[in-house]
Amino acid sequence: MNDPTFANTFADQENQLKPAQPCVMVIFGATGDLTARKLMPALYNLAIQGLLPKDFACVAFARRDKKQEEFRQELYEDIKKYSRTQPVDDKKWKPFSEKIFYHQGNFDNHDDYERLKKFLATLDKQCNTKGNRVFYLATQPSFFPVIVEQLHKHKLVYNEKVEHERWSRVVIEKPFGHDLNSALSLQKHVKQFLEENQIYRIDHYLGKETVQNLLVFRFANSIFEPLWNNRYIDNIQITMGESIGIGTRGRFWEEAGILRDIVQNHLMQLMSLVSMEPPVSMGANAIRDEKVKVLQAIRPIDINNVDDYAVLGQYGPGYINGEEVKGYREEDNVDPHSVQGTFVALELFIDNWRWSGVPFYLRAGKRMAKRVTEIAITFNQVPGVLFKGKVDKKGQTLLVIRIQPDEGISLRINCKVPGLSALSIQPVKMDFRYGTSFGETPPDAYERLICDSMVGDGTLFARGDEVLTSWKLYTPLLEAWQNRPRTGFPNYSAGRWGPENANRITEKTGRSWRLV
Ligand code: BG6
Repeated sequence: MNDPTFANTFADQENQLKPAQPCVMVIFGATGDLTARKLMPALYNLAIQGLLPKDFACVAFARRDKKQEEFRQELYEDIKKYSRTQPVDDKKWKPFSEKIFYHQGNFDNHDDYERLKKFLATLDKQCNTKGNRVFYLATQPSFFPVIVEQLHKHKLVYNEKVEHERWSRVVIEKPFGHDLNSALSLQKHVKQFLEENQIYRIDHYLGKETVQNLLVFRFANSIFEPLWNNRYIDNIQITMGESIGIGTRGRFWEEAGILRDIVQNHLMQLMSLVSMEPPVSMGANAIRDEKVKVLQAIRPIDINNVDDYAVLGQYGPGYINGEEVKGYREEDNVDPHSVQGTFVALELFIDNWRWSGVPFYLRAGKRMAKRVTEIAITFNQVPGVLFKGKVDKKGQTLLVIRIQPDEGISLRINCKVPGLSALSIQPVKMDFRYGTSFGETPPDAYERLICDSMVGDGTLFARGDEVLTSWKLYTPLLEAWQNRPRTGFPNYSAGRWGPENANRITEKTGRSWRLV
């Protein structure tokens, strides 16, 4: 039987994408960075591909006073700058822009929601949107509870048990809470007003093609899965390096830091997809059940010996691509004595039958030498009886799943160097590249996710228990770091792969970080 939250995402019965349903999308925080850089370009690209519902409107809700035309003009500029498809097609831009409406309002103001309600009713008549709503919360996290409560008070979200003709969904941006307790209370709060299947907790990594391909790669090929366990795998390294710094987000970053911004969500999504058991179906809940199970099996970090498992770093000034860049403490809105982390390296273990004893090494950082996200799976060495001294440790079979950029998968294997002289063995690479095989740029993650929210498919969104399990793992570490003096920051120069002492995480067992 199909999972109730049936997924179209990977493949439904006919392998057809369900069409997005008529709706109005209301974006809260519509003058913010996320809306400009990601949400509006994604909507525009959906529009030009014909993937937006025919009956559609978008209401941009924000606090600033702005005229409709002024907002649309700003949008046009943003799309020129950030859309993945260029140049902007003016013929398609015009009808698209006419579906976007600016609504000035405060997130906690009764009258502003009443006005919104009336306006949405007018749009339903004008655009035939049938009362269906996607509310996208792209504001600062502190507004999430307020907005959800206001939506409920003004009957803008529906009780799905009673209403069958129309639907309302709420997309909540990350971070969902800032530790276990705050995530639990946010969860409790939103659950008073919404059913779980109305809540779409976004983690845009799940919208990436390469991330969706992880399950296809694992479960649609017969040769990898039999090896996918502690009998054949030596270690798994998940790296998310960014060459950019924290940009204009100093204030947010001072509160969040690397664990909250990147590890607790994006890296844990990658880790759970690469390590979970095969789900019973491709349904949303079946996949999410397996992700939660594996997250629950991660061994809690030993807080008494934190330094053996986790290293925190902060970038100082340095060079990226030959250009001089500031250190974290010199960035805008950052305390000049800040001890916030911009790099982290971790060793985790999954205490289950499949993974017992296999270290998972995770690292993420800002201002690394280059932008790269990848999962590297190193297989065990062969028994050293035949080619003694010829196959060195560094030549272990290695599978690299490149999430971005240069999306693809490569397998490093050992090969005989051709020739008549003494036997020599050298590692060579078998390489698959998305660009070469498919010849087109994959859609942006937000396109996929926005589309899924209009279709009603929650597979690529995080379920409440997933988020909470991840917070449960990281909250003790956050507290341990908070409760002891952190000295010696900054401890890596911009343009390097984190501090020197990150090496001790892998070196204590004779392994090393992969050079990416
Ligand atoms: C966001 C983080 O969630 O992901 C940013 O808040 C980070 O700090 C970004 O830069 C990375 O996303 P991507 O898609 O560029 O890898």
